[in-house]
Order: sequence, then C-alpha cells, then structure tokens
Amino acid sequence: SWTTGSVIEEQVAAIREQVGDKRAICGLSGGVDSAVAAALVQKAIGSQLTCVYVDHGLMRKGETEQVEKDFVAATGVQLKVVDAQERFLKALAGVSDPEEKRKIIGREFIRVFEQAQAEIIADEGPAVEFLVQGTLYPDVVESGGGTGTANIKSHHNVGGLPEDLEFQLIEPLRKLFKDEVRMVGQELGLPDEIVQRQPFPGPGLGIRIVGEVTKERLDLLREADAIAREELTAAGLDRDIWQCPVVLLADVRSVGVQGDGRTYGHPIVLRPVSSEDAMTADWSRLPYDVLAKISTRITNEVRDVNRVVLDVTSKPPGTIEWE
Ligand code: XMP
Repeated sequence: SWTTGSVIEEQVAAIREQVGDKRAICGLSGGVDSAVAAALVQKAIGSQLTCVYVDHGLMRKGETEQVEKDFVAATGVQLKVVDAQERFLKALAGVSDPEEKRKIIGREFIRVFEQAQAEIIADEGPAVEFLVQGTLYPDVVESGGGTGTANIKSHHNVGGLPEDLEFQLIEPLRKLFKDEVRMVGQELGLPDEIVQRQPFPGPGLGIRIVGEVTKERLDLLREADAIAREELTAAGLDRDIWQCPVVLLADVRSVGVQGDGRTYGHPIVLRPVSSEDAMTADWSRLPYDVLAKISTRITNEVRDVNRVVLDVTSKPPGTIEWE
C-alpha cells in the first residue's frame, strides 16, 4: 500500500544504488516539484548532490530568499546561487512581445545553467553523471511514457534544458501526482511555504509586465504582488484559488486623483482563478471585502499605480497568464 514513508525509503535506496560514488546536479526553480526531487536525492546522497538556482531577477518578493535560506535550512543541501539579474535585464531591454520575452528568458536561463554546471563539473572530485528532474507522473504520460535518458521536456523549468545534455536522469517523482509530491515534501520536512506553493510560471514576472521589462517596473509589480498575496493569505483563501497572477499594464496609463492632485498612472490587474489542472480555469469569485482591501492597499502603497482592475475572464477564452 502507498505511504509517503515507503515511497521515500524505496527511492532513497534506488538513488543510492544508481548514483554510487558519482555526483548529481539539480536545477531548482523555486517550485514544488524540483524542491521535493532535490530534497529526496539529498536524503539519499547528501553532499554528492549540488543544486543550482538561477536568480533571473523575475521572481516575486521573498522567493529567492526562500530557496536560499528555508530550503537549505530544511535540507542542508549544497546550493549554488547564480545572480544573473543584470544579464536578464540587459537581454530583455526594449522587448515587449510576449513570445520574444519567453524565448529570451528561456535562452538566457539555459546559458547560465550550463555555465554553472560546467563550473561544478570542473571542480575536483568524482564526475557529475546525473541530473535530477522533478518529472511527475502526468508529465510522463503526456510525453508517451518514454524512460529518461537525456531528452528533457521543454515544459520543465524555464523553456527546458538542452537536449544534448549527456547526463543520466534521476526522476524520483515519476510515479507520483502533485498531491502525493506535496505529501512527500512534507514528510521530508520541507516548509509549507515551499510544499503548498501555487503554480508560478518559469519566466516569472517577466511575462506579467505587459510592455517592456525594466528594473523599476519589476520592483513595482513585486510590491503589488506581495500585497495581493499577503491579503489572500490573511483571508485564508490560498487553498481556494489555483493561483492569482498580478499583472502590470506598463504600456497603459489612466487618469486618477490621489492625495491633492491628478495622477496619470498604471493599472494593476488581479487575475484570481480556480482550476483543476490549468488546462481550463474559471475566474474566482473572491469576497468583495478582500478585493477592496487589496485595491486600497495597492493604490496607497505602490508608487505609480492608481487603479486596480479584476479580470473576470474564464479560460478559454483567456489564458491564465496575460502573456
Ligand atoms: P496559461 O497562461 O497558459 O497557463 O493558461 C497555464 C498554467 O501554466 C503556468 N505557466 C507556466 N509555467 N513555465 C511554467 O513553468 C511557463 O512558461 C509558463 N507559462 C504559464 C501558468 O502560471 C498557469 O499555472
């Protein structure tokens, strides 16, 4: 019968057997799957595992710190954090097209990851022969059930890893569904902030700024997003909604009146949705008082924002994200 304890024991034994005295690396995205996969492999092979986290500067408030501090504290994992914020900002300068942004972010991510990987491999010690992936059962089914050599699906992490990677894969979650992964993560001692995390797109806030991505706009959106998350959590709504993208319409301005004067600022869009699997979604009927609180706080506390609007579109026709 299925228990998280038996899954962990079984996987730990299998990973030890598979890796022997070699080394493994794992890219952390900040999401649940890669975190639980890493924690499981860490339990099995300890310091033979190195995790890589690419900070592209498109994360939400507190997320990088969460990986750096909470995840390391909970697992004792060896972590290499690469600060690539400047690099991503530079690559994204002047770009407004959504697909173009996604391509750039995916490309830069791969370059930074490969570089970090090469540095780890160049270190002394036994060879790095294994790459840990947080592939889940639904991913395996979708891709036709092929076993893992080095063909990595593009929907993992940001835009996928290079297809010619010469690693053997370790995929300890490939028989599990998301809720089971969360249970395993909990059993492994990961904090709720990681285990219960709602979905967040790999390209991060880069695809939640309609218009060009700049440092200033990212900071502004980070503030608005943090307020929305804080209030949703305070209202006890985190488990009721699938996720709530907060979007900055950077190319739109509207007239407002704030304090003693007229303003000409940007709108923030709230996009709370309920969903089973993100393939379809409905807009969440959030309580008006919670929406009011979020709206008041964002317009009071976030510079250059004078309007908050609610997205009441289902998927289809609207996607969950705006880009
Ligand atoms: P859409 O916007 O297509 O999103 O309705 C469906 C779900 O996927 C997430 N999403 C992504 N996740 N990389 C990811 O890892 C991506 O590039 C990406 N784009 C969208 C989105 O947040 C939603 O949960």
